[in-house]
Amino acid sequence: MEKYALLGYRLRHTMSPFIHRRLFDLSGKSPDYRVYDCPADGLSVVMPELMKTNGFNITIPHKEAVIPYLDGTDEHASRYRAVNTVDVKTRVGYNTDVTGFLKSLGQAGCPLRGKVLLAGLGGAGRMMACEAVKAGAELTVALRPESTEKGIDILASLGIKNAKVIALEKMRPEYDVLLNATPVGMYPKIFDCPFTDEVIAGSKHVFDAIYNPLRTVLSLKASEYGVNHISGMAMLVYQAAAAHEIWYGAKFRDADLSRIIDDCNAEISKDFPVKSNIVLTGFMGSGKSSLGKLIAVEYAFGLTDTDSLIESKYGKISDIFASLGEKAFREKESEIALAVSEYRNSVIAAGGGLPLSSLNVQALKRNGIIVYLDTPFELCYKRIRGDLARPLASDGDRDRLLALYSARKAVYENCADITLDGSLSLPEMLKSIKEKLKNYLS
Ligand code: S3P
Repeated sequence: MEKYALLGYRLRHTMSPFIHRRLFDLSGKSPDYRVYDCPADGLSVVMPELMKTNGFNITIPHKEAVIPYLDGTDEHASRYRAVNTVDVKTRVGYNTDVTGFLKSLGQAGCPLRGKVLLAGLGGAGRMMACEAVKAGAELTVALRPESTEKGIDILASLGIKNAKVIALEKMRPEYDVLLNATPVGMYPKIFDCPFTDEVIAGSKHVFDAIYNPLRTVLSLKASEYGVNHISGMAMLVYQAAAAHEIWYGAKFRDADLSRIIDDCNAEISKDFPVKSNIVLTGFMGSGKSSLGKLIAVEYAFGLTDTDSLIESKYGKISDIFASLGEKAFREKESEIALAVSEYRNSVIAAGGGLPLSSLNVQALKRNGIIVYLDTPFELCYKRIRGDLARPLASDGDRDRLLALYSARKAVYENCADITLDGSLSLPEMLKSIKEKLKNYLS
């Protein structure tokens, strides 16, 4: 059987299996397709396996590191020192990102001319820098202050002489085209944006190599300022199609590729055919975080906690309650609920009050199975009373907490797909949830 694969790290958001399956379908093939999720230092372990496939794609962080394992690289891959496609029979590495990048810019009516500001000089960034200069653009590269020196060396090694390197915070609103080749905007940096509002507002075109989430902060700001915005999805599909051309001479019609791009966008933005998140709900102290850790290990899922995300973005929950009040906290909680609803293959431990908003529940249900951890009040109370990190429990007022518990019970029950007995031991709960999840996960 023919075998193809993707090599990368932290690939739980990847759309590659979906795209390649569609491309193989169009070519009348049904090979084995696997994802190799491998950290930077694990390459030597997986390479022998990958070299038994017919071909594979490569993404961060292996695009450069893979080169020594190959017999050669094509002109583009050599120039950018970035390989994203390997043809195993010839052991040659190619760069098809460039094909995807130029084609998607062309289709979106974005010329690589005038003043171009590029963020990032990783594999994709090096490719974009070379292509911008080749097309005659006036290139500036924005990097984190600690990376600017390294950036100057990278540009020199690419043979680029006339480009400027600036620290990210030094950017001014003077660019025609903005290119984001950093992971900023992608999980876990989904609330961040590589460019300032002023710079976005002053530009004409914004290309964001990120495709998941579909709506990054950068894309939302670009639409707000009426700037042409191009997401990385078309580039991803076109680079994949170019890999099939290399592997076995496939040719695809533009209409077919456009359909795949639309389907990928739909796939990312709405209902997924298979729900892939496990959302743990329940009263404060019901055991969501402890159980979450066990489930994440069991299913090799990511683990996310809505409270921790709120805290990393806005500071301590107790401070938010104290200075801005509960209403402001709930708004932040809803923003986070919406963001994590885009995740895949994740265990999401939801703050105890998150299901009070039906919009939060709706968002999380799109791609998540809601599990209610039904833990007796006394057990929860023992765990939370007087906890200063939980503003609703810090005074330890038993009667008030019991009333809150009783009022919320129906809310949890109504939104739950699965209910678990929270008085069981953790191993018993894990066993029980695995049994119940069989009906949902495939
Ligand atoms: C809250 C629960 C807390 C936290 C906040 C408010 C609630 O999360 O979101 O203090 O309204 O029940 P835990 O359920 O993880 O304690």
